Amino acid sequence: MENTTEQIYNLKVNHLNKMRIAVIGAGAAGLAALRHCTSQSNKKSIEVICYEQSGDIGGTWVYTPEVGRDAYGLSIHSSMYKNLRTNLPKEVMGFPDFPIPDNDKSYLTRTELLDFINTYCDHFELRKYIQFHHHVVLVKPLDGDNMGKWSVEVEDLEKKKVLVEVFDAIMICNGHYFQPNIPELEGHTSFKGRVLHSHDYRVPETFAGKKVVVLGAGPSGMDLALEISKHAHQVILSHHLKVPILTKFPSNVIQKPDVVQLREHQAVFKDGSKENVDTIFYCTGYKYSFPFLDKNCGVKVDRNMVTPLWKHLLAIESPTLAFVGLPYYVCAFSMFDLQVRFVLRFWQGFKKLPPKENMLAEESMELKKKLSEGLHVQQFHMMGSKQGLYYEDLAKTADLDPLPPVLTSLHNESSQKFIDDLLNYREDRYKIIDDHTYVQL
Ligand SMILES: Cc1cc2nc3c(=O)[nH]c(=O)nc-3n(C[C@H](O)[C@H](O)[C@H](O)COP(=O)(O)OP(=O)(O)OC[C@H]3O[C@@H](n4cnc5c(N)ncnc54)[C@H](O)[C@@H]3O)c2cc1C
Ligand SMILES: *[C@@H]1O[C@H](CO)[C@@H](O)[C@H](O)[C@H]1NC(C)=O
Repeated sequence: MENTTEQIYNLKVNHLNKMRIAVIGAGAAGLAALRHCTSQSNKKSIEVICYEQSGDIGGTWVYTPEVGRDAYGLSIHSSMYKNLRTNLPKEVMGFPDFPIPDNDKSYLTRTELLDFINTYCDHFELRKYIQFHHHVVLVKPLDGDNMGKWSVEVEDLEKKKVLVEVFDAIMICNGHYFQPNIPELEGHTSFKGRVLHSHDYRVPETFAGKKVVVLGAGPSGMDLALEISKHAHQVILSHHLKVPILTKFPSNVIQKPDVVQLREHQAVFKDGSKENVDTIFYCTGYKYSFPFLDKNCGVKVDRNMVTPLWKHLLAIESPTLAFVGLPYYVCAFSMFDLQVRFVLRFWQGFKKLPPKENMLAEESMELKKKLSEGLHVQQFHMMGSKQGLYYEDLAKTADLDPLPPVLTSLHNESSQKFIDDLLNYREDRYKIIDDHTYVQL
């Protein structure tokens, strides 16, 4: 006997009517979504529209010297800074069916990366599906006869008009490096110096002669501590990493434990030491944020875990809603591609979702496992050295071409070198030999 849950989840569309899909955002994830929604085999059954609030594709990779708000009063989305070079080799940064072309280095500049994204977009002729300067303000589930469908309220920023459209399914590709996470330190309101989050960081010159505390030793904290040390008088890298950082920083960079208190001109550290400082530089990461999601959409963000989701991707309560790109410390573009192919298998009816109870159980088991390994709820979407298992699971579950395991192993080598040899590792060059092997040139 068919149970009712499964009937609701049988998402196969009536092929007389095309399935209407909205894609929110035209960064690398949104473009991967468009690429597969408009492929030869899918375009007969899918009509897709992508809404992008800015005037450009590329999201994070679009650099602007501006911070704060744009010409339309929206918060500047990109956290890109002027001197950024990728922290991963280009060999793991391409798309599965569209790798980054070979050249004389592995670690590209932000401009080279943005050029690549544009080449991808043009190669698959995706631009015509994108509505630029269209800001999604509300995504709301419909009910009654329209159960499972969505109304999407979009602001046309240039014409200053609000449109409402109905879609069968939504791919959320709005990124997750735009809403700063700033811990509330004791005494933070008394601090009289400059306070900055890495989201608003652009150039190092503004730190000239200053004594700066960098909070956090994630990828941004490490990179930025090094970058500003060329101008700053002294940089104190404050963190609680359990593994020691082997990188030999310049002599004006010192490491300290967490800051426990701020005073007018002073930071107090966990070991009891105190330093007079000019600037607090928060490199404390970002929060997942979906300001356009109606409260009835069946998904919430709890301690930075987007939940309840099946495989970090599909909303369990309303599986015509997909979140592309949530996992971090991953081979991002390849993962976006795999996630989009996964979602479409179900939405197109080639695969059937398991009962809701099973999906919920899978999520809570994964959480339990991560907590038992000493991780926090906040790290639920972190993949890192376990990313290969996630890719395999997606590919197996939906009978898709898997991602080559060499991506994961090269990602691992590069991430390790980032910690151990930050000053030099970007000079390394790699070449992928086959699905399992890479060599360093
Ligand atoms: C400083 C920095 C350095 C990084 N370096 C690397 C690296 O070296 N290698 C790597 O693999 N990854 C890196 N990343 C991660 C990077 O974010 C991913 O590689 C990838 O670009 C994310 O793509 P995305 O499409 O998910 O999100 P984004 O690139 O953030 O794109 C989201 C898009 O959605 C649009 N949007 C958002 N809200 C709305 C709305 N309401 N309506 C309409 N449009 C909306 C935005 O304008 C934006 O264009 C870095 C990130 C940062 C912040
Ligand atoms: C690389 O992989 C090893 C083995 O799985 C793991 O212990 C290590 O933490 C990984 N390094 C990084 C930086 O992910």
